[in-house]
Amino acid sequence: MTERAASRTAILVCQGRAVADGRLGVGRFSDPIAVDLLLDDEREIVEHLRAGAVPKAFGARVEYEFVSATSEVLAARTVAIDDAVREKRLPQLVILGAGLDARAWRMPELSGVSVFEVDHPASQAEKRERLGEREPLAAVRFVPVDFGKDSLGAALTEAGHDESRPTTWIWEGVVPYLTRAEVGETVTEVAKRSAAGSRLIVTYPTPNRLYHYGRRAMEVLLSLTGRTNPMAREPQRSSWTPEAMATVLTDRGFTVTSDRDLLTIARVAGVEGKRGSFLSSGHLVVADRG
Ligand SMILES: C[S@@+](CC[C@H](N)C(=O)[O-])C[C@H]1O[C@@H](n2cnc3c(N)ncnc32)[C@H](O)[C@@H]1O
Repeated sequence: MTERAASRTAILVCQGRAVADGRLGVGRFSDPIAVDLLLDDEREIVEHLRAGAVPKAFGARVEYEFVSATSEVLAARTVAIDDAVREKRLPQLVILGAGLDARAWRMPELSGVSVFEVDHPASQAEKRERLGEREPLAAVRFVPVDFGKDSLGAALTEAGHDESRPTTWIWEGVVPYLTRAEVGETVTEVAKRSAAGSRLIVTYPTPNRLYHYGRRAMEVLLSLTGRTNPMAREPQRSSWTPEAMATVLTDRGFTVTSDRDLLTIARVAGVEGKRGSFLSSGHLVVADRG
């Protein structure tokens, strides 16, 4: 992602949630706001998928399968993250790399919670435009930060985050786009601002060859067939074994409460999970501060 361009992967995952709403993990997953945050041309593929209209043209079919696989990942990880947020009702929620996350607009449990949406300035500006006048259910403050360049701590202090009170941190779908050093630095900042009782929820990719080559092949096919490749400007920069991720967290004072792969989560959440390797390569870790 360059300094000026808003994230395209944020749109892809929003499309995934819009496809999944009312279709995957019914009764467990819901994001009725996602579709409203998409522009007309971005909504088209969502409508095809929701209608089960499988395209005949090869390029359109590749895109269809890619967004379909994404919707399974998104339904699974959203259910698990929402559960982890509800399990521990804390007064502050910081969403790191928020993209088009609509939790503050769709979760009534967040009313009374101070929500800080941290994101790359370009992505955040675009989100605010897309939201228009839509009112959140929580008190939301927008905090523009480029991880690795800007000081997360200073930006949060300025926005009114209180480091003496416990915080839930969500870091969903962002770790792959950061280097290992940027991940470590960000967790250091998060740990400094995490009072006792705080919770950090992180999704991360594991080094899975099948997934890696499958995703690369999908990207090449999207480009060759003239479709938009949402990952073109947002390359994957890091992947983690569960042990390596646990080390980063425990070295900074967190205790790992759970670490599960998304395929396991999908099964529990009633998400069909046809794309096993797509799902199983992603993990979700919940870590707490004693
Ligand atoms: C795949 S999107 C995930 C968005 C959201 N968390 C979700 O799951 O819907 C990746 C997000 O990471 C953010 N991001 C990537 N690199 C970043 C950086 N260096 N600084 C701040 N945000 C970054 C992008 O702006 C984008 O919103």
